[in-house]
Amino acid sequence: MHDDDDSISSPGGEPSIGDLIARRLSRRSALLGIAGTAAAAVAGSGPASAQKTGPSSFTFGEVAHVNDAMHHVPDGYEVQVLIRWGDPVLADAAAFDPANLSAVTQAKQFGYNNDFLGLHPLPPGSTANDRFLMVVNHEYTNSNLMLAGIGEGREARLRADRRQAEIEMAAHGGAVIEIAREGRRWNVVEGSRYARRIDANTPMRVAGPAAGDARMKTSGDPSGTRVSGMFNNCAGGETPWGTWLTCEENFHVYFQGEQAKHPDQVLAKRYGLGRAPSYAWGKYFDRFDLDKEPNEPNRFGWIVEIDPYDPQWTPAKRTALGRFAHEGCHHAVAKDGRVVCYMGDDARMEYVYKFVTARPWSPTDRAANRDLLDDGTLYVARFDADGRVVWLPLVHGQGPLTAANGFTSQADVVIGARRAADLLKATPMDRPEDIEPNRVNGRVYVALSNNGSRKPEEVNAANPRPKNDHGHILEITPKDGDHAASEGVWEIFIAAGEPGKHAGTKYHPATSANGWLTCPDNVAFDSKGRLWIATDSAEIAGIADGLYACDVAGEGRALPRQFFAAPKGAEVCGPIFTPDDRTLFLAIQHPGEGKGSTFETPSTRWPDFKDGQPPRPAVIAITKKDGGPIGS
Ligand code: FEO
Ligand code: CA
Ligand code: CA
Repeated sequence: MHDDDDSISSPGGEPSIGDLIARRLSRRSALLGIAGTAAAAVAGSGPASAQKTGPSSFTFGEVAHVNDAMHHVPDGYEVQVLIRWGDPVLADAAAFDPANLSAVTQAKQFGYNNDFLGLHPLPPGSTANDRFLMVVNHEYTNSNLMLAGIGEGREARLRADRRQAEIEMAAHGGAVIEIAREGRRWNVVEGSRYARRIDANTPMRVAGPAAGDARMKTSGDPSGTRVSGMFNNCAGGETPWGTWLTCEENFHVYFQGEQAKHPDQVLAKRYGLGRAPSYAWGKYFDRFDLDKEPNEPNRFGWIVEIDPYDPQWTPAKRTALGRFAHEGCHHAVAKDGRVVCYMGDDARMEYVYKFVTARPWSPTDRAANRDLLDDGTLYVARFDADGRVVWLPLVHGQGPLTAANGFTSQADVVIGARRAADLLKATPMDRPEDIEPNRVNGRVYVALSNNGSRKPEEVNAANPRPKNDHGHILEITPKDGDHAASEGVWEIFIAAGEPGKHAGTKYHPATSANGWLTCPDNVAFDSKGRLWIATDSAEIAGIADGLYACDVAGEGRALPRQFFAAPKGAEVCGPIFTPDDRTLFLAIQHPGEGKGSTFETPSTRWPDFKDGQPPRPAVIAITKKDGGPIGS
């Protein structure tokens, strides 16, 4: 998401560190004694092909920087549209008819603004490459492009009448679809018994330390354990036992009401409640009106766990993982079998987190993992100028997290995780988006999208650029290769922007005029552990959003090459490969977004290009025409 309120709620940055960056670089190899070894372990990402030119291991012909109505892939690759907004998900869904939308039909169709994509094999636990349950987040709605006659801009949502607001609510949430491959072609399996739509009204339960807390109770749910729906689900992840983790991001923009009247001023300010809402839902439904239901926002901003293999399962809000503008939740398994989830709070000056389960997961007893995410330790990251990252535990009773500071329980800590992290002096970051461990080299990649409002006096070693419009990517190496370790080392892997034009960029020197990128958001790895970087908001640099392929080891380390360019107004989300690397799925979100673009006169009608029909967010499958691995 990039067109909503993400004003700064964090108390602010650290003092300037200036030349400490240089000092850190000279010291980091001495720290912990691990920096060089992991790189050596993966040097050389594969055999060179006949087409290989330059230091990159990738052999595709680079896509040019463009900004037009169409998508672009390299020669020799093909794009198939798998599913679009409004296509049937449930067996009895109506056909898409943009002139006659209704909440009832939308609730059975594919939702709007597909973001995270996950693949869960069928049969469960298999190494299949041909049949999956695909899980999809539907983050938000561009009502100006969905709804005829509503006008332009994000303000269009505030003009929605009750019927239109109900359509928006049904277009949020997520979807589970079954997909199967025949040859190179992917199809959605009609009538699948797994098919499911989740929306802003789906019954969910609250699990973990905040369940039943007084601040989770509303007039609609006096127990504080039952919530209606999820919304603004951005990126996500999966558990080792095959469930879907979907992340509630900018929940605060759905609530109207006055901040000054809110009974908890500390939380209301820290979470940005009561700023101008982005949706009209509060006009029609009391739960979206802070003046009537001040606790309702406490029930959003969580990681939601959903079992795609059981359509009857009630989604669980896993409150032990903290409450903030959750972007993603990718995991690694620690040496002792405990599960470690990496998470970003995507707002300017917010933090990087990880959660470590109390117990190891069981590969043989799926039921034993059912509530594993309810018990463990939440940590927030402090990136020191000497190159060390220290994970600080957010545990009630430890350090400043005591009654004297307003924390009387772990429920207080998780509901007010941002404030707890402030007290521990975590490092304010440049909008943490996806954070994903690389299973090949054991390192963790942190996409920091941008932060145009960081002042010169607010820079720190890990966020060294004031007015960072283009973002950067950090690379973390956990101590002793153990993701549960309380420290590690970090370095800046890429500092984005156009080399020679934007200050402070950092890439491999062979990066081409089409290979530089801006505003990194989602990341993924192919089976060789090579990094793929999707962007959001590249129009700030006059180019379309795209997907970039980048080596993390060997001669081509930190040398991105553009593989995909999105249609106008769209962001590239959810990159994920089949295990054999022969299909790459992408979620193309909000095509046609931007000033002046409306249902009637959109800036693109991608992907159908049908007269009178608006653009449609869609999931695409990219294959190589010769059937080979993507990127080669
Ligand atoms: Fe929804 Fe953080 O992008
Ligand atoms: Ca984003
Ligand atoms: Ca995102």
